[in-house]
Amino acid sequence: MLIRRPADLPPSEITDPAVYGARRRFMGQAGALALGSLLPAAGQAALGPLSPLSHSALSTTETPTSLRAVTGYNNFYELGTSKTDPAENTFRLKPAPWTLRVEGLVNKPRTFALEDLFRLAPLEERIYRMRCVEGWSMVIPWVGLPLASVLKLADPQGSAKYVEFTSHYDRATMTRGVLDWPYSEGLRLDEAMHPLTILAVGLYGEVLPVQNGAPVRLVVPWKYGFKGAKSLVSLRLVDKPPLTAWMKAGPSEYGFYANVNPDVDHPRWSQATERRIGEFLKRKTLMFNGYADQVASLYTGMDLRRYF
Ligand code: MTE
Repeated sequence: MLIRRPADLPPSEITDPAVYGARRRFMGQAGALALGSLLPAAGQAALGPLSPLSHSALSTTETPTSLRAVTGYNNFYELGTSKTDPAENTFRLKPAPWTLRVEGLVNKPRTFALEDLFRLAPLEERIYRMRCVEGWSMVIPWVGLPLASVLKLADPQGSAKYVEFTSHYDRATMTRGVLDWPYSEGLRLDEAMHPLTILAVGLYGEVLPVQNGAPVRLVVPWKYGFKGAKSLVSLRLVDKPPLTAWMKAGPSEYGFYANVNPDVDHPRWSQATERRIGEFLKRKTLMFNGYADQVASLYTGMDLRRYF
């Protein structure tokens, strides 16, 4: 984001489908997942295995990006601004114990312990295309639950039109400067309730690694990656569009909507193509990141150049 073009990872980074296939078979057979080397913090082991996982029909059939790239090439500025910093600085964030508040314009404000969140709805595997505003993309097998199932429990009031997402921030251990912390993001309530929008608590069948936003982060696959606020502590229902951390930092560069749109360039680079991490040739970026059939109707009649 700030605002280097990424160095590409070598083609060897792409997942060997056989490896992932074998992994999925293992998941199926075992019935319960062993928490592997990715396990970010001892406390999370108490949450138990993430399986059995159902595989969502909303998943893409494209080949997932390698686990190594997904967990080694990250944007998580609180843990450092280079792509490799977050994986090296995981000790700066303790993902357990953890609570997530749902507050603001709701009839039933709730505070969920992470364990409650895991039990709230069946966890599903969602393999999503992810497109970063910087021009690279990945395919990530998330594990998560629909955000709608969490919001509905809090019973949003009629005046609630938007959701403000706030990430954990600890000034003592995390990056100072760069952005106006804590990291915050926003969605319109109908975007937040859309079935594609999930809270992710895992990836590749295991609990979420710290560098990917442990223990719980937002994933909105038709929007640029910066909408997916990591390590969430609060979801606040509000009546006006929240001013997000990136909008404060660069209002002409980062809009509230941030829908993936090959026809609207970033002021300093084209968004027409992308580099899928692990691939050599660039590919064309698709409108709404390939999810137009599911989400275009949310924006009927809107000028997407103005509401970028
Ligand atoms: N959330 C927080 N709290 N801090 C961040 O710096 N970076 C965003 C988003 N969420 C970020 C964040 C950006 S720019 C991207 S592209 C995605 O996280 C990257 O997610 P990943 O590292 O899991 O691929």
